[in-house]
Amino acid sequence: MVMHSTIGLNNTIVGDVLEVLRLLPGPTFDVGVTSPPYNKGERHKGWLVDKVTYANNSDRQDEAAYQAEQIAVLDEIYRVTKPGGAFFYNHKLRWDRGQLLHPYAWVSKTEWVVRQEIIWQRRIAANLRGWRFWQVEERIYWLQKPRFSGDKIGPELAPRHALMTSIRDMWPEQDPSHPAPFPIELPARCILSILDGKPGAVLDPYAGIGTTLVAAKLLGCNYFGIEISPEYAATGKERIANAENERPRLEAEAALHKVEMTFQERKAKGLSRNRFAKQTQRPVAPSLWDTNGNAMTENGNEAS
Ligand SMILES: C[S@@+](CC[C@H](N)C(=O)[O-])C[C@H]1O[C@@H](n2cnc3c(N)ncnc32)[C@H](O)[C@@H]1O
Repeated sequence: MVMHSTIGLNNTIVGDVLEVLRLLPGPTFDVGVTSPPYNKGERHKGWLVDKVTYANNSDRQDEAAYQAEQIAVLDEIYRVTKPGGAFFYNHKLRWDRGQLLHPYAWVSKTEWVVRQEIIWQRRIAANLRGWRFWQVEERIYWLQKPRFSGDKIGPELAPRHALMTSIRDMWPEQDPSHPAPFPIELPARCILSILDGKPGAVLDPYAGIGTTLVAAKLLGCNYFGIEISPEYAATGKERIANAENERPRLEAEAALHKVEMTFQERKAKGLSRNRFAKQTQRPVAPSLWDTNGNAMTENGNEAS
């Protein structure tokens, strides 16, 4: 049982996500990043990597109950997020006996405005069977709490963050103490893009070994985590205490957020290519086939 008096910022509470979220007071957080358990079931064959099984909970429940719980969690996070705040929710497409289970199906039923679907290009597939092309991507839903009634767009990103694009090309993290931690660059990019270097309060309600919280601390923010496994929470606390060890990776990520040259500067230097310019100005590769379909040599003569 989590006591209300134990809850404060810069802490990780060991407990159930909904139970703890419901104890939190009203709008507190500026931004959050999380990855819940995916309810993957783990019942199918063909897994390349070790099964993702968590220490203190089963990742297998009735799908309708799972989705209802995720909606309840996202709506509690909405309640504790400040107006204008953002939340990044990582999930993936799953199939159950041929039926596509798309995260948008339940994300769109929450109170949040779905601002963008970001692709996480992980480059590696967990399941190498040929029922589908190898699934090497996950999704990250950028969710927005409106600043005022009718605000459907939210504040604009600074160009140096918007330039990071809607695709996150990042290898997944490998860590012996947890089956599925974030690479620290993933939450760092989300937090930095929203807060633009300003301090704020950051939430991860499925904190695992605390990657989001370490990124938040290194970015000068307050943080708050919830994690059901005491072992993962303890590892996370240790990482947070030694967060400076992870600063080089965070700084490498932050260094990517820069505008080399604005659009106006590119235009002034003649570097901006007009997408609608006549294509004839481009060199055309010589055809390897003549109009009768005979093979040609590369210098245009008929091949012998
Ligand atoms: C995908 S992992 C998150 C990993 C995290 N992003 C990191 O970098 O370490 C999901 C986490 O949710 C935790 N979890 C599962 N059910 C939970 C619940 N009901 N309440 C709180 N945490 C839960 C699991 O123990 C697991 O560590």
